[in-house]
Amino acid sequence: MPKTITITGAAGQIGYQLAFRIASGQLLGTETKVNLKLLEISQALGALKGVAMELEDCAFASLGSITITDDPNIAFGDSDFAFLVGAKPRGPGMERSDLLIENAQIFSIQGKAINKNANKNIKVLVVGNPANTNALIASENAPDINPSSFTAMMRLDHNRAIAQIAKETGVHSSLIKKVAIWGNHSTTQYPDINNAFVDSKRATYILDKDWIRNSFIPRVQKRGAEIIEARGLSSAASAASAAIDHMKDWELGSSVNDWVSMAVPSDGSYGISQGIIFSYPITCKDGQYSIVQDLNLNKFSEESIKTSEQELLDEREAIKHLL
Ligand code: NAD
Ligand code: LMR
Repeated sequence: MPKTITITGAAGQIGYQLAFRIASGQLLGTETKVNLKLLEISQALGALKGVAMELEDCAFASLGSITITDDPNIAFGDSDFAFLVGAKPRGPGMERSDLLIENAQIFSIQGKAINKNANKNIKVLVVGNPANTNALIASENAPDINPSSFTAMMRLDHNRAIAQIAKETGVHSSLIKKVAIWGNHSTTQYPDINNAFVDSKRATYILDKDWIRNSFIPRVQKRGAEIIEARGLSSAASAASAAIDHMKDWELGSSVNDWVSMAVPSDGSYGISQGIIFSYPITCKDGQYSIVQDLNLNKFSEESIKTSEQELLDEREAIKHLL
């Protein structure tokens, strides 16, 4: 069965990576045909036409049809998977939350269009910042779609954490397991390695506590800004890669004896307020995700997680008129 995949902001930096990787089969495998629905603002339709021409020119075996549009009702028609990328990125010196009011309206409009037009079992990944609260806005504007269909991207932070540990220990990233990112995709996020393993050894036994607290955690929290500083633009290829990792694991299952980080509507696990889109350690199976339960949290972890929860509650308060 072909799948319909919507990408918003498809002519932007991340969209330009994402569309080609998905069309080539890197999301659902080369055996599954994908019909791409690419959404842009009217002013970018010319550039989007160019993206569609290049997609055609790849002659991908797994690419079915391509639709380009500036109408969200068309873009989300029968959508099975939606990548909500289209939004303004931050520049140097800004926090992601500075984009809240400017980008919020986009997700209210798109939530309504998803509600009206998409497959009721759609899987939605919000990438546009501030991703967690934008996912909440989209979900609240789509009352006929199960809120569990709306998630936000923390996989880039998760992958960044793994990369930092690999660099510090000299162990390949594929041997680093059970890292978790809790909370918001912002500098309050809490990268947690209390349950992580590095080549089957407990990360906390082999990594220096001072390095974890004063180097690792702030580095991961501020990696987005570090990339902006270096590139003059926000991360794009790594963001597209993480978006594929997120959706692929959600649909096809995450690795056994490991977990991933996804921001999902809180069900109250670990005392987090219900409904906010909060990142937890997650496992995925049969197209569903589950929050990893019964982890022991030390005082530092509890306090860090609460700080990020409070930030998400404040963000929700700031956009409550859109809910
Ligand atoms: P970009 O400016 O290169 O591309 C964004 C595209 O979205 C543009 O082409 C723009 O025309 C389009 N767009 C704007 N409003 C739209 C709308 N209403 N409907 C459809 N398209 C619309 O930006 P980018 O680098 O691709 O980043 C996109 C977003 O992703 C930003 O908000 C950025 O901060 C965020 N981001 C998130 C993560 C994460 O980990 N969650 C990582 C990287 C970037
Ligand atoms: C990132 O983490 O790279 C993105 O959220 C872009 C940003 O603004 O940092």
